[in-house]
Amino acid sequence: MNRSVFSKSAAVLICSMYLAAAAAFSASTDVGLPETIPQEPVTAPQTTAAGRAPVTERAAETECATAGDRKMVALTFDDGPSVPHTDKILDLLTINGAKATFFVVGQRVSEYEQVLRREQELGCQIGNHTFDHKTLTALTAENIRAQTEKTDTAVQSLLGVAPQILRAPGGSVNSKGRQNAGKPIVLWSVDTEDWRVGGKRGKNTPANREKVIRAAVDNTQDGDIILMHDLYALTAQCCEQIIPQLRQKGFELVTVQELMEYKCIEMQKGAVYRSARGE
Ligand code: NI
Repeated sequence: MNRSVFSKSAAVLICSMYLAAAAAFSASTDVGLPETIPQEPVTAPQTTAAGRAPVTERAAETECATAGDRKMVALTFDDGPSVPHTDKILDLLTINGAKATFFVVGQRVSEYEQVLRREQELGCQIGNHTFDHKTLTALTAENIRAQTEKTDTAVQSLLGVAPQILRAPGGSVNSKGRQNAGKPIVLWSVDTEDWRVGGKRGKNTPANREKVIRAAVDNTQDGDIILMHDLYALTAQCCEQIIPQLRQKGFELVTVQELMEYKCIEMQKGAVYRSARGE
């Protein structure tokens, strides 16, 4: 019954619809990769132009078995949304046929509703990054739950779907955090360290941007989860290089949820995931 914590989410349905539509398009045109296909709108009809059967969650399960040698990674952006950086990143994702995951801070949701709507419309995933960017290991069990639930409520009331994954600020997790997260905790396997050079204490120089770009691209492997922040001008600028360079290396840029589904990983509440590398 409990195939995955996402089984019943609307997000999976939307993802499944996209995958099935992409497969139908590919079959009818002999075009290769799904990422060359225009994004299906969220309101896509449940049957394809070819008149196929209604799409169900089975589409995602099928992809799990057939992902084969496809190389994919998940770009993740924390601490936003922010203007204009998140919008610029969304533009770059769109141009490159890519998606990403945004771990949003709950207190920012009401201020950046349009950006969040756009993230959802583009097929990106929205994750929970607590309400006030609190370090979970410093909180009581009750406050951990309050921080995550408040963010869930803010996103749910705006977008109709609550975040299904949590990223602990600073990556700080202990057993109390795992027990009270209420959802899978997703950390990362590639740290670009944009937070070190992109913030107020850093410098947005060509040399620093190059460091971040190389960190994101050079050693990245199939299944990696890449940490960035859509809070800095530096990060958005780096994405001008990072996104096309990863695509040139043959990576599909998918959401965390898609990455896990393609790699046949069933995420569980309270468990910590750093990648889908299959090690
Ligand atoms: Ni953060």
